[in-house]
Amino acid sequence: MPELDSSQRQAPDSLMLTGFWYRALPADRVHRNQLQKAMLLEIPLVIGRDRVGQPFALRDACPHRGMPLHCGRFDGENLECSYHGWQFDVHNGQCELIPSLTPDQHLKIERIYAGSYPCEEQDGFIWVYIPDPGPPGAGFTEPEEAPDAAPVIEKFTEKYKWAYLTADMPVSIDHGIIGLMDPAHGPFVHQAWWWRSRHSIHEKKKNFEPIANGFRMSAHTPSSNSAPYKLLRLYADADSITTTIDFVLPNLRRETIRAGKYWFSSLTTVTPITRNQCRIDVVAAWNIFRWLPFGPELLKLVFAIFVEQDRRTMELQAEGLKHNPHLMLIDDADRPAKWYFQLKAAHLEAKRTGGEMKHPMSGPVTLKWRS
Ligand code: FES
Ligand SMILES: [Fe+2]
Repeated sequence: MPELDSSQRQAPDSLMLTGFWYRALPADRVHRNQLQKAMLLEIPLVIGRDRVGQPFALRDACPHRGMPLHCGRFDGENLECSYHGWQFDVHNGQCELIPSLTPDQHLKIERIYAGSYPCEEQDGFIWVYIPDPGPPGAGFTEPEEAPDAAPVIEKFTEKYKWAYLTADMPVSIDHGIIGLMDPAHGPFVHQAWWWRSRHSIHEKKKNFEPIANGFRMSAHTPSSNSAPYKLLRLYADADSITTTIDFVLPNLRRETIRAGKYWFSSLTTVTPITRNQCRIDVVAAWNIFRWLPFGPELLKLVFAIFVEQDRRTMELQAEGLKHNPHLMLIDDADRPAKWYFQLKAAHLEAKRTGGEMKHPMSGPVTLKWRS
């Protein structure tokens, strides 16, 4: 495991955290009896669905001589490598057949495994659990079990609508994440007449508190200078609208807005694809405007504008980052980014020592900034 110089580390190291669930692909891109390529944390994967629709994830390299398994033949049950025809059970990666063996050759093929990863479908995405790198000797390693289930979006009523959005960002996981939690870029990057402009910049004060593996922007009434919230207040006829935003390692941002019986809930993830590339996936669920036939499309459109503005910004930022400039984080606007780096360092330190994770925040904190 890579060493960290101190628990105070506050710089992007683009280290990708293992031992967590990650979103791999939108579920609607993975069809029965078919294979799809994906990459997570620089691990090439082949993802598919069996005959009954159950998803699976294997390392996209045959344990024999490394042929990408996505080139193989898949009958909805077993995957046959295209080079020498070895066959694997897609759900645990176990070898089932080596066609070149003669009847008197007793190779224990059941001890051979193609790398297999825990895989779940949740809220419109195929999630894959990436375990800590195991001991060398791949090819004979049985699949590892995930310690918990994939993250779920909180929903508050039986009926709701949902939509997702996904965008590739040409920056490391760290820049992707701190861009996501950065409160000061809004008036500059996300200018729109119906949202907010730089003329509406004013001082804000938000309370934060530590939560397991992360921090929470405590329940508050959202910014009064944005039109959608004003509209929501009228429509929902609620005295107060509250929103809570959580960040949880390795990459989860949960936002919950509640207004009387109405709610809006989203789970955004920034997923490390390679050292220099990440992907942002926003999945939202809500019961507001459910009667509007074009509700999801409208919301998706608004989200798409925001995400595209962020993507474009990061594309330009990547230019600036190419030659490793010195960077700085300032108080209080960049404090969440500092907490992220401290959380990451504390998590790695706890793993290294086998002890409890020492949370970088000792209690509630109030931050002030203008945006
Ligand atoms: S490389 Fe896959 S069977 Fe030989
Ligand atoms: Fe943004």
